[in-house]
Amino acid sequence: MSQTDRTREHLIETYRKKAKRYDFTSRLYPVPGYPQRAQRLRTVQALGLRPGASVIDMACGTGLNFPLLEKVVGPDGRIVGVDLTDAMLAQAQDRIETNGWSNISLVQADAAGFDFPAGVDAILSTYALSQVPECAAVIAHGAAALSGGGRWAVLDLKVPDKTPGWLAQLGTATVRPFASIDQWMMRRPWAAIRAAMQEELADFSWTELFFGTAFLAAGTRAPGTSGVQPRGSGHQ
Ligand SMILES: C[S@@+](CC[C@H](N)C(=O)[O-])C[C@H]1O[C@@H](n2cnc3c(N)ncnc32)[C@H](O)[C@@H]1O
Repeated sequence: MSQTDRTREHLIETYRKKAKRYDFTSRLYPVPGYPQRAQRLRTVQALGLRPGASVIDMACGTGLNFPLLEKVVGPDGRIVGVDLTDAMLAQAQDRIETNGWSNISLVQADAAGFDFPAGVDAILSTYALSQVPECAAVIAHGAAALSGGGRWAVLDLKVPDKTPGWLAQLGTATVRPFASIDQWMMRRPWAAIRAAMQEELADFSWTELFFGTAFLAAGTRAPGTSGVQPRGSGHQ
């Protein structure tokens, strides 16, 4: 088993344990009082969705974004939630049934291997993509599948630029219990996400949130360029 596979297995195991309590514990994420809901709302707004739009929530977890997405796309819209962890999707399914939403489907898949349906209006990923080593390729594949004028938005945590190493390590220790914090910090996934979004999309924007502890990256697929590139032609 490769190191990547081992990390993935560990990640799935971790989220299986967290799934049932995730909706509660995520309110304390990354620290109690963190403006997570406001950040989610801002991310959904960045998609510029209209009623009837189609949207993919990549690494959707238990579906905490679904109520915000439902509000804008309405019953004629279409939402696809994708996640690697079965137990997180089971919680998402409960949320769908409890709310009686009939326009959301769930797919268990690794973001790195997911075949984005062509012509989707928007893609978002919240607090998840920095955990995916192939995040740049995921952005490229998603961008290629967007309809012309479609939007991609990524919200995630980052280490603030001017934080001393020891402090960053202490802070991230609380939010990255599933993998090597050193690895995550050294990998600087937010930089890879930023570069990929900038390269793949027009109208790119990068907004640092809450003292640089999170970012919202967004961009548009240039109109008239819809179509799907062959897989594997993007970043790794
Ligand atoms: C911190 S949770 C965030 C969930 C949700 N997006 C939210 O905002 O609450 C991270 C999620 O990413 C999923 N995940 C991690 N790596 C993944 C991958 N390679 N492909 C798909 N999902 C992945 C996990 O299973 C977990 O549900």
